Amino acid sequence: MKKYFLTVAVLCSMVVVGCSIFHDKTSDLEREGQRLFASCDHLGVDDVATIRAGEFVCKGARINPFHGSKPSANNRSCGDCHQPGINFSLTPTRVAKLAADHPVFFDGLDEDLDRLKADALVHVLAPGVDEFRQSPKLIHLRDLCDAYGNCDGLGLGGDRVENLNAFIIQAIGNHMSATTARVAGVDFRVPNAQELKAINAYMRSRLVADQDER
Ligand code: HEC
Repeated sequence: MKKYFLTVAVLCSMVVVGCSIFHDKTSDLEREGQRLFASCDHLGVDDVATIRAGEFVCKGARINPFHGSKPSANNRSCGDCHQPGINFSLTPTRVAKLAADHPVFFDGLDEDLDRLKADALVHVLAPGVDEFRQSPKLIHLRDLCDAYGNCDGLGLGGDRVENLNAFIIQAIGNHMSATTARVAGVDFRVPNAQELKAINAYMRSRLVADQDER
């Protein structure tokens, strides 16, 4: 009998330890994704302020992790257009609060800065799309996408590529490029497999899904 209880106890603790290791790993990946999303990954620290401030805050200068081989003034981050506190979208009210020299107003791309400032409209360039659109919320991605990042329609018109990894690469080339030439490797860097996995996991995580308007 004693032996039986011991075996059960050992098995139970293995399950608990196993689950916590799995959970920690998942969280680390999500947090790495969050830092990449906020352009804070080079700092290697969790962005705790994000949760409270309703805005991504790095504990130091932020750096676009996907800049290409030449120096770039484009220091935009994913989080500039998908801001916490407003469901990871961008609203005219939030834009009005940004300093005139905020990286979202980078003027080296084919943006219409007047429309960006007045209506939070962003130039979207992707296969089959060339128009000014609002940044959609991201809190629903947890429901919309499966564990592989395949989603039930992305983009405001549901007319974009349906895989999150492919979407991330397009978003970088579209919004975080140094010039309008948008040459991969030169004007921007294509994220590696680990970075894609992390950003993908972050966008489908509770860190995003649970952070609605506040
Ligand atoms: C300059 C602003 C801007 C930046 C920077 C930006 N996005 Fe977006 N994002 C948009 C806009 C605008 C759309 C709508 C695109 C469309 O409707 O085709 C969008 C759409 C999306 C969507 C689709 C959401 C949905 O539900 O349909 C995802 C996912 C996304 N962005 C992720 C990212 C990631 C990841 C990054 C950084 C690598 C990023 N975005 C950087 C403006 C931006």
